[in-house]
Amino acid sequence: MFQVMAETCSYLHKKIALLFFFVALTFAQDEKQFMYNGFQGAKLHLDGLANIHPNGLLQMTNSSLQGSGHVFYPQPLKFNTSRSFSTTFVFAINTDVPGHGGHGIAFVISSSMNFDHAVPAEYLGIFNISNNGNNSNHVIAVELDTVQNAVFKDIDGNHVGIDINGLESVGSASVAYYSDEERKNMSLQLSGGTPMQIWIDYDGAKMLMNVTVAPLKHPKPKKYLLSTPVNLSPALLDPVYVGFSSSTGLTATEHYISGWSWSQIGQAQDLDLTKLPSFPKIRSQRKKLKVLFIVLIVVLSLLLEMIAGVAFAVWRKKYEELKEPWEQEYISHRFSFKDLYTATKGFKDSELLGFGGFGKVYKGVIPSTQTQVAVKKVSHDSRQGMREFLSEIVTMRRLRHRNLVQLLGYCRRKGELLLVYDYMPNGSLDKYLFKSKNSNLSWAQRFNIAKGVAAALLYLHEEWEQVVLHRDVKASNILLDAEMNARLGDFGLARLYDHESDPRSTHVVGTVGYLAPELSITGKPTTATDVFSFGIFLLEVACGRRPNSLQEFSREDFVLVDWVYDCWKKGVILETSDPTLEGNHQVEEMELVLKLGLLCSHPKPEGRPSMRNVVQFLHGDASLPDIPSDYDHQSNSYFGGSWRISSSLPSLSSLGISHATISSDNSVIHNGR
Ligand SMILES: *[C@@H]1O[C@H](CO)[C@@H](O)[C@H](O)[C@H]1NC(C)=O
Ligand SMILES: *[C@@H]1O[C@H](CO)[C@@H](O)[C@H](O)[C@H]1NC(C)=O
Ligand SMILES: *[C@@H]1O[C@H](CO)[C@@H](O)[C@H](O)[C@H]1NC(C)=O
Ligand SMILES: *[C@@H]1O[C@H](CO)[C@@H](O)[C@H](O)[C@H]1NC(C)=O
Ligand SMILES: *[C@@H]1O[C@H](CO)[C@@H](O)[C@H](O)[C@H]1NC(C)=O
Ligand SMILES: *[C@@H]1O[C@H](CO)[C@@H](O)[C@H](O)[C@H]1NC(C)=O
Repeated sequence: MFQVMAETCSYLHKKIALLFFFVALTFAQDEKQFMYNGFQGAKLHLDGLANIHPNGLLQMTNSSLQGSGHVFYPQPLKFNTSRSFSTTFVFAINTDVPGHGGHGIAFVISSSMNFDHAVPAEYLGIFNISNNGNNSNHVIAVELDTVQNAVFKDIDGNHVGIDINGLESVGSASVAYYSDEERKNMSLQLSGGTPMQIWIDYDGAKMLMNVTVAPLKHPKPKKYLLSTPVNLSPALLDPVYVGFSSSTGLTATEHYISGWSWSQIGQAQDLDLTKLPSFPKIRSQRKKLKVLFIVLIVVLSLLLEMIAGVAFAVWRKKYEELKEPWEQEYISHRFSFKDLYTATKGFKDSELLGFGGFGKVYKGVIPSTQTQVAVKKVSHDSRQGMREFLSEIVTMRRLRHRNLVQLLGYCRRKGELLLVYDYMPNGSLDKYLFKSKNSNLSWAQRFNIAKGVAAALLYLHEEWEQVVLHRDVKASNILLDAEMNARLGDFGLARLYDHESDPRSTHVVGTVGYLAPELSITGKPTTATDVFSFGIFLLEVACGRRPNSLQEFSREDFVLVDWVYDCWKKGVILETSDPTLEGNHQVEEMELVLKLGLLCSHPKPEGRPSMRNVVQFLHGDASLPDIPSDYDHQSNSYFGGSWRISSSLPSLSSLGISHATISSDNSVIHNGR
């Protein structure tokens, strides 16, 4: 009220303000009621460790040991000791060790504000050893005591007591409150930092003092905690000072009061709890929490680090890729190994499409795009030449023809190169030609396939910006799309083996039986060597037989091209046609394919047609020349035995080794054509 008036003052005219000031002064002498919702700007008597925080929080003691603080309403109050009074205040006791605070807060009614001779600790800053219990003290206190002291017959270390002139309480109770909702006593810990409210009500007529405690914001419990008969008349002298005393002992304890209401005329006004300053967080808890937090963080981070470390190591091992700085330019062509791993279900055997010329081929579905792909896993330990190879691969990615298997990209790991291609649902041609007897291709399909492969080779040889040699044309490298169209695959991979070798020692890549005879001498792949392989491939398609094999009943090796040539010489070339066709073929087309096969596999490169001519022949745009008279592999003096390399090495193909290493050092792509 005083505060309110003082505040109002500043808004009034000077003269009126002056008038009010005098009224306030005189009125204060006879104060019956006041209230502090926070002590901001309050003119109180403070001593010792007591101080008021800028936010209005009243601090009775700080963590200084063996100290005390006093706070009193500054004016003495006229106090008819036979009249009633009522007071309430909100407090909190913060200590390092909850339950071991020291020593407490006391509400004090005293004839004097001078407590210079009082001692801290168990004397609560009110009494000393010599005056304790002396009736001439004229002090009444309600103590909130957090330390049990046997000398004063304390009931415990967490009690409320009513003291008259001394610390031996006339009435005391363990701090608790009656919960109306739960219909039972709930105990409270004074020095746990819990903000609490206490109500002290004295009935002058009945000479009964009731004390009630509750946690802050809890309404005043209907049942008091302590009700003790007290006769104030002999104890107190009129006028009195009202206030608080607090003390610390051996433990650092902060005692706080955030609001106080006093009345000598009926119930003390209720505090406005919303206006009270908040208490600081418990130091001990803060400290403890901090320590706990740090420990937790450390433990957690260590644990996480370990888990992450292990997981990362596993992950790394599993998905580790090989990336070199120069590969940056191919980044857009690169697949992550993780994606390929997921796509192929971890390169599971169930996803295996087959063993291509250069490694296992797996079926997969790229998770991000849901596109079906074929992933070729090529074992490759050499880093040498990889850069050139990749640049060619990437160049080849730009090759686009409906009869080529599209290369989509690559990925590299240690010792491993992964090439990602369009998925061809019908697999490779050799499966239809040689393996499955039931799923035979019709002649129309075969003829279409032959035309498709021819178109692809023409594109590689003549229609693209550079000359690209395939170097490994054969039935097993022809894949079939959903409509059974031929797609030439695996081009350019031969280059990988060139690079892998010592640049001075060179080797030819290709498949025995498809290798042009001059390769063994020059070692130089050309478009004509591709045409040769294509010729052999045509014979495979027409005859349904592999280019060469060990005959079961004779010691002589079977060489397809020789056999067809012999039959042609005898005028029975059509007898070489695949018997599984059962005559269901166009005779002209069959003859064309067989003869073209022979022409293309002419022992001399200059005797072979170009791919452009081949396409013209197949489409009937030009008529096929006759097989020349000098066409004879065996009697050809120039190539002599060297052609026979294929038949002299039957064991290679029968062992499944398809790459006869002879000699070569040539790029697949011929620049500057
Ligand atoms: C406690 O307060 C007193 C008086 O304001 C001061 O001298 C002392 O340094 C404070 N102690 C601590 C630990 O803050
Ligand atoms: C104190 O109050 C009682 C009861 O109200 C009254 O009888 C008595 O006269 C008062 N004493 C003084 C000194 O005012
Ligand atoms: C106790 O306090 C009284 C004043 O209340 C003082 O006269 C006395 O000297 C004090 N005794 C001690 C031992 O400090
Ligand atoms: C009480 O205090 C007074 C004044 O300080 C003193 O004269 C008296 O002897 C004390 N009484 C006892 C029992 O100590
Ligand atoms: C609660 O505490 C009060 C005071 O200590 C006591 O009188 C009462 O019996 C207790 N009630 C219950 C339900 O424990
Ligand atoms: C104190 O408690 C008793 C018993 O509940 C009650 O009758 C009395 O009115 C209370 N006194 C005050 C001042 O609250």
